[in-house]
Amino acid sequence: MSARLEVTERIEADRRQDLPELRTTGAPRPAVPGEPIRVAIVGATGYVGAELIRLLARHPRVEIVGLVGRDRKDEPIGRIHGHLTTTGLRIDEELPEADAVFLALPHGVAADFVPEVLARGATVIDLGPDFRLRDPADYPRWYGFEHPRPDLLAAAVYGLPELHRPELVALGSAGPGNPAIVASPGCYPTATLLALAPLARAGLIGDLVVDAKSGVSGAGRSLKAELLFGEVNESVRAYGIGGHRHVAEIEQELARLEAPSGDAKPGREPRQPVDFLPHIVPMTRGILAACHVRPTRPVEQAELDALYAAAYADEPFVAVADAPPATKQVLGSNQARVFAHADPRTGRILAIGVVDNLVKGAAGQAIQAFNLVHGLPETTGLEQLPLAP
Ligand SMILES: NC(=O)c1ccc[n+]([C@@H]2O[C@H](COP(=O)([O-])OP(=O)(O)OC[C@H]3O[C@@H](n4cnc5c(N)ncnc54)[C@H](OP(=O)(O)O)[C@@H]3O)[C@@H](O)[C@H]2O)c1
Repeated sequence: MSARLEVTERIEADRRQDLPELRTTGAPRPAVPGEPIRVAIVGATGYVGAELIRLLARHPRVEIVGLVGRDRKDEPIGRIHGHLTTTGLRIDEELPEADAVFLALPHGVAADFVPEVLARGATVIDLGPDFRLRDPADYPRWYGFEHPRPDLLAAAVYGLPELHRPELVALGSAGPGNPAIVASPGCYPTATLLALAPLARAGLIGDLVVDAKSGVSGAGRSLKAELLFGEVNESVRAYGIGGHRHVAEIEQELARLEAPSGDAKPGREPRQPVDFLPHIVPMTRGILAACHVRPTRPVEQAELDALYAAAYADEPFVAVADAPPATKQVLGSNQARVFAHADPRTGRILAIGVVDNLVKGAAGQAIQAFNLVHGLPETTGLEQLPLAP
């Protein structure tokens, strides 16, 4: 090992042992009738940032008090996102005083920024992966960085309301001094976990292959040669061979659903690895996750129908479809559609989930979790129907 590497590792180890105690000055502010909740959006120049602005600008209980972008000074948002011109909002470098801060930043950037936001007493809703994984060792493994605040991972709640609603509500009443961090799920995991949750809870998932497709907005707005129109149009391409990063949270959450106690602690026996193969397809928005399950015992369609109906009958945003769903059926909305089919010939179960990656797969879901944490009806600001054709 080189001397330089050794020093770096020692500094990292010292830093981990010597983390400053986090002092938060407040607790998530419950909604008070007539008083808007002040929200800020960091990373407002990106795709997820834009979608947060589009939705929060029409949220009846929220006031957007600031949009933050790096190296931006009092710039009209319409100059960056033309479709948001009429909001009249401007983007700046400074984070204003806010009750909740949405972070739409690349992995590794939010982790450094969050302690400052928490210290101001604001709720953090992070749309990146920096707080989704419980085990600090997963960050170097899947994301290539040592987590700067591993002590905060246990406090964060994985923000998939259909799986973690009680914890999100509890986050809102945890009281001053308790960091309120929502780790909003990835887009592929949202479609995959909603499709598989009823099977996982019933202990029915044996071997699992997830074959997923995403539109190009899933990769963000920064320029990448492989996302040029000429490369993507009229073509389908697999990527992430050998372990896309989203596998980590899919396996983490499936293990939690499968554990009899619902226990999400690291160190438990790992579940059987998930084969996950994503593809990029020539469309702007949408994720479809087709999950091929070899069940742990024979399963008939009637049992599947009952499991899915019980899981989702009361969910405002998840519909169980009786035919394979299409991404177009959820476009622009916070809705998810799931479908489950028992194949008597092969003995397999096919479970499909579709979401709009930027709404239920990102901004809409983050607002759904924010509503729960701040004591608002979960559907507030999210009831728009999908856009078609
Ligand atoms: N796209 C999706 O469908 C989706 C779904 C779920 C979750 N997510 C997650 O949401 C986050 C944002 O994704 P996105 O698709 O919106 O990406 P994006 O379009 O590339 O936007 C990234 C944003 O982060 C800013 N940024 C980049 N590097 C930064 C740095 N070092 N310091 C400060 N700001 C920086 C960018 O600012 P500049 O404009 O100055 O570059 C931009 O505002 C990512 O963590 C992503 O994994 C995305």
